Amino acid sequence: MSVATPLPHDSAPLHVTGRARYVDDIPAPAGTLHLAFGLSPIARGRIKAMDLAAVRAAPGVVRVLTREDLPNACDTSPSAHDEPLLAEGEVFYAGQAVFLVIATSHLAARKAARLGKVEYEEMEPLLSYDETLAAGAEFEAEPRVWQKGDAGAAIAAAPRRLTGRIEIGGQEHFYLEGQAALAIPDDGGAMHVVTSTQHPTEIQHKVADALGLPMAMVRSECRRMGGGFGGKESQGNALAVACAVAAKLTGRACKMRYDRDDDMVITGKRHDFRIDYDVGYDDGGRIAGIDFTQVTRGGWSMDLTLPVADRAMLHADNAYHLPACRITSHRLRTNMCSATAYRGFGGPQGVLGIERMMDEIAHVLGIDPVEVRRVNYYADCAGGGGGGGPSAPRSAAPSPPERYLEQDRSPGSGHAMSGALAGAGKRFGAEHSPVARPVEPQTTPYGMEVKDFLLNGMTAKLLADCDYAGRRAAIRAWNERSPILKRGIGFSPVKFGISFTLTHLNQAGALVHVYQDGSIHLNHGGTEMGQGLFQKVAQVAAARFGVDVAQVRITATDTAKVPNTSATAASSGTDLNGMAAMAACDAIRERMAECLAGLHQAKPEAVVFEGGEVRVGEAAMSFAQAATLCYENRVSLSATGFYRTPDLAWDRIRGQGRPFFYFAHGCAVTEVAIDTLTGENRILRADILHDVGASLNPAIDRGQIEGGYVQGAGWLTTEELVWDDKGRLRTHAPSTYKIPACSDRPPVFNVELWDGENPEATIYRSKAVGEPPFMLGISAFLALSDACAACGPHYPALDAPATAERVLAAVKRARG
Ligand code: MTE
Ligand code: MOS
Repeated sequence: MSVATPLPHDSAPLHVTGRARYVDDIPAPAGTLHLAFGLSPIARGRIKAMDLAAVRAAPGVVRVLTREDLPNACDTSPSAHDEPLLAEGEVFYAGQAVFLVIATSHLAARKAARLGKVEYEEMEPLLSYDETLAAGAEFEAEPRVWQKGDAGAAIAAAPRRLTGRIEIGGQEHFYLEGQAALAIPDDGGAMHVVTSTQHPTEIQHKVADALGLPMAMVRSECRRMGGGFGGKESQGNALAVACAVAAKLTGRACKMRYDRDDDMVITGKRHDFRIDYDVGYDDGGRIAGIDFTQVTRGGWSMDLTLPVADRAMLHADNAYHLPACRITSHRLRTNMCSATAYRGFGGPQGVLGIERMMDEIAHVLGIDPVEVRRVNYYADCAGGGGGGGPSAPRSAAPSPPERYLEQDRSPGSGHAMSGALAGAGKRFGAEHSPVARPVEPQTTPYGMEVKDFLLNGMTAKLLADCDYAGRRAAIRAWNERSPILKRGIGFSPVKFGISFTLTHLNQAGALVHVYQDGSIHLNHGGTEMGQGLFQKVAQVAAARFGVDVAQVRITATDTAKVPNTSATAASSGTDLNGMAAMAACDAIRERMAECLAGLHQAKPEAVVFEGGEVRVGEAAMSFAQAATLCYENRVSLSATGFYRTPDLAWDRIRGQGRPFFYFAHGCAVTEVAIDTLTGENRILRADILHDVGASLNPAIDRGQIEGGYVQGAGWLTTEELVWDDKGRLRTHAPSTYKIPACSDRPPVFNVELWDGENPEATIYRSKAVGEPPFMLGISAFLALSDACAACGPHYPALDAPATAERVLAAVKRARG
C-alpha cells in the first residue's frame, strides 16, 4: 500500500544534489532577453520627469519601457485591478516598478536599471497604524465587524476585566528560490510562460489580459518552486506579465528573476497586526465575553488583504468557546509593499491575539496558563463529527481521541470536570459516555458548529508525554537559584480551519494517463513548493492502481493539461488534488476492470488491483500486461478527475456560515532560556502533538510540522522587518533579516502525530498539514514571555517578534 507510508519527497535526491530544475535552470532558447525593473526610491509621490537616456545607452540594453509603451495597464493584481505593472504617474511605495529594462543579460539589465533619473514630487507617506487610521485610508468603506451575542454586556457583567494590546510584526517569506519567470513566444501570437508560482492559472489569466489574448492562447507551467510559503500566490504575476509583454514586443524569449535584495524590497510579506483585547472573565479564568480590535497594514494595493484579514478574524477564537464575542477589523492602505499571503494567511496573527490574552489572564489569576486554556476549550467531540460530509465507513474500534477524553475526565486528573467539560451536564448527552457529543451545538463566533474538536484529549496526552507539570515546577525552582539566566515554558494549541474562505476556490482537477506499458502519467492542478504534494498525490494514484509509486511519473503543473485551477494554498493541496486524482484513476480502473472481466467471464467487481498485479479470479497478470491488454481491446486509458469540497456556505459580510470543511489541531510546549543582561535567548526544547488525521505520508507530514514550527518561531523571535520613517525597508538582506538557521532548531525536538482519522470524508481520511503547525511556534513566544515575567512582579508587555532587544526591555518592565 503506497498510502500511509513514510516515503521520502519524490525530488529529495535531486534537491540534495542540486539537480532539481527551477525556472532559472531551464535551458532558455538562444537569444533570450533578460529584464529588470527600475524602482521607486520613495514611498509616495508624483513623477515629475523621467530621464532614461543613460539607461537606454547602457551596454546590452535592447529596450526600455515605461507605462506609455505598454498596451494597457498590464494589471498584476489578484483582486482589485489596482496594480499597474509600471507606475502611472504616481508611486505608492519604495520599491514600486517605474520602468522596465530589457537587455541581453541579467547583469546588464540590473546595472542599467540603476541609471534612470526620475524626478519626484515627494508626498508624506502613510505608514503607522494611527496615522493611517486617522487618515481613513482603509480598503473597505467600513471596518468589518462580526459578533456573537452581546460582548459588551457580557464583559461588563463579568467579575473580572482586562484590556491589553499586542503588536505583531510581519514576515519575509525568504523562499530559497527568488521570484522568477520565463516567457517564450509561441506561433500565432500565443505565449508559453514558465513561472515559479503557486497559481499557474492566475499567471495565465493575467498574461492573457495584458496581451489581449483569450486564455487558451496562454500556457502556464510550473514544475516546482524553491519554496513559496504564500509569497508566490500573487507576487509572481508582475514578473510573468513583464516577460510576456516584453516577449511579445521583441519576438524573443524573455526571462526575469529578482535578486534577493530586490525580492525583499519589491514583494509583499506577511501582514503585521495590532490587536487590542477587552475581556470579561471569572476567577477561574472562564471567559464571558471578548471584544477584539484587529488592525492590519495591507500596503499600497489590495492584493489578498481582505481574505487575510477575514482569516485573522476567523481564528480570533483559536481553540476556545467564546459565549459572546465581537471582532472589529480595519484593513489599512499604507505606503508600503503590498502585504500578501503567508503560511496561515492571517490565522497566526488572530491566534496570537487570544493566546497572549490567555497568558495574561493566567498571570493575573496566578494559575497555570494551560488551565486557563483548558477551562475555555471547546468540548471534544470524537465520533460526533462528520454529519455534513458523505460518510464513508469509519473504523469500528474506538479511536484514540476517545481514549484520552476518558483519561482527561477521570477523577484523578485534576481537570476532570473543569472548564469546557464542567458543562457536561448541560452539554453532553450522557455524563459518562466516552463519546462527548454536545447536545447543544457549540459554535464559533461566526456561527459554525464545532463537531470535530480534539484538543482536550490531545493536550492531556502532550502534557503527560513531556512532563509539563514537573518541568514547570523545576523551571520555577531553577529560576529561584539563577539570577542572570532565566528559563520559561509556554504552551499553545491550534485549531485551524481548512478550506478556502472564497468558497468557489474549493475545487480541483486532475489528468491521468496509463500508457500501454503500464507506466502512469500524473498531472493535477496543485503545485509543488517543497511541501511534498506531488508525492502524496502520486501515492494516491499508486494506491488506486495497486502499483509501486515509482511507476507513477509526476509532471509539471500545466494549464494546458488541467484548466481553471485554484492556487495551491490554504493547505488544501492534497485534500483537493488527491481527491481529483483519485476520481481520474478510478475512472480508468473501472474501464480496465470492465474489459478484463469481460475477457475472463467475470464480474468487474472481481477484478483486483494489488501488489503490482491485476487479478481476475484465478488469473493474475502484471499491471503492465493488463494495460497492454486493455489497449489492444481499445479501452481509453486516459481520464480527467474533478473534485469540489461539499457542504460549504459562507457569508463574509455577515461573518456567518460554515467556511471550513473541518479543523486541524495541534499543540506544543516550548522551553526557552534568556540572558537577562543581553536579552539573548534560545529554544531548549519543543514537544509537539499534531493532528493530521490518518496520515498519507508520516515522513512528509513530520517535515511540515517541524518546518512549520521553526518558521513560526522565527516569525515571533528573530525575524524583524524594519521600515524607516520614510517608508524604506531597511532589512532587505540576510545580513539584517534573520531567519532561523539549522542551529536554531530546538536541540530536543519531539514531534508526534495524533492517531486518528478525519471524521470528514477527505482523501484516505487524512488532514491538511501545510499551515496549521506554523502556529505552534507561538509557544516559543509565550515561553519567552514567561521567562521575562519570571524576572519580576509585573507582567511585562511584549510585542512580536520577541527579539533580544524586546526581551531585554521586557525583563526591565517585569522588574518595574
Ligand atoms: N512547505 C514547504 N516546504 N515549502 C512551502 O513553500 N508552503 C506552505 C505549506 N508548506 C510551503 C510548505 C503553505 S503557505 C501552504 S498553503 C501549503 O504548504 C501549501 O501546500 P499544501 O496545500 O499542499 O499543503
Ligand atoms: Mo499558503 S499562505 O495558503 O500559500
